Amino acid sequence: MEIITSPTAKEASRLAARYVARLVQQKPHAVLGLATGGTPVMLYQELITLHQEGLDFSQVTTFNLDEYIGLAPDHPCSYRRFMNENLFDHLNIPAECTHLPDGLANDVEAHCQEYEDAIAAAGGLDVQILGVGTDGHIGFNEPTSSLASRTRIKTLTEQTRTDNARFFEHPEQVPIHCVTMGIGTIMDSRRIIMLAFGKQKAEIVKAFVEGPVTAMVPASVLQMHPHVTVFLDDAAASLLSKRDYYDWVYRNKPQWQTIEGKSASTASS
Ligand code: GLP
Repeated sequence: MEIITSPTAKEASRLAARYVARLVQQKPHAVLGLATGGTPVMLYQELITLHQEGLDFSQVTTFNLDEYIGLAPDHPCSYRRFMNENLFDHLNIPAECTHLPDGLANDVEAHCQEYEDAIAAAGGLDVQILGVGTDGHIGFNEPTSSLASRTRIKTLTEQTRTDNARFFEHPEQVPIHCVTMGIGTIMDSRRIIMLAFGKQKAEIVKAFVEGPVTAMVPASVLQMHPHVTVFLDDAAASLLSKRDYYDWVYRNKPQWQTIEGKSASTASS
């Protein structure tokens, strides 16, 4: 796992955007795994700026991690709506190449299999962007999710529903169920970037970076993936016991291995 700390969330998001931009430059038909929540918003703003400066997304395909069950695509709190407003409406990705699970699917099980099949048919994910829930969830894979799980229906924890209530008018409007890529689906991505910002994420960051691999902290499974880069701001990194070492590694990376250098894709984990 490569840990990159920055003084601010904005700076961390800028670096993460460069990582994604470099991938799209190197592979114009890249398949991107995308996330929702507050965390990736600044990364998306940076990507929009890079697009305005010429970065082409016309051959890119995207798959989002998850969607609430029961919310129509145009519902103000659906993840489809979130992605349209925060990213897709501002880039030149063809609409038919942006994929989210359908929160209104009649046959949820069949829909989950179709989603898995669509990812495979697109060639698999080149990079999955992740945030982390305060309970350690990735996508909506709550604690005790199988570390080998595939796309499926999940029941949200009360903590996640409370955390996400800020996006809804009333807390009770937060759906109880969702469709999420599984942990196995996420782990199949060729590369993974994780972003976490703020003091409220410091404890869970310490748990998934430096604690044991356990289904009680789903994000800890990332320790088993060979190409994970974690972008943190100072506050989220504040409880890491090896923080000095991570910063030392980053400062001493050979230039060709850095995000600004020739090949971000070979950054060691
Ligand atoms: C949400 C999403 C996750 C996201 C996480 C953190 O419930 N399903 O993909 O990473 O919770 O959210 P935030 O970035 O708002 O802290």
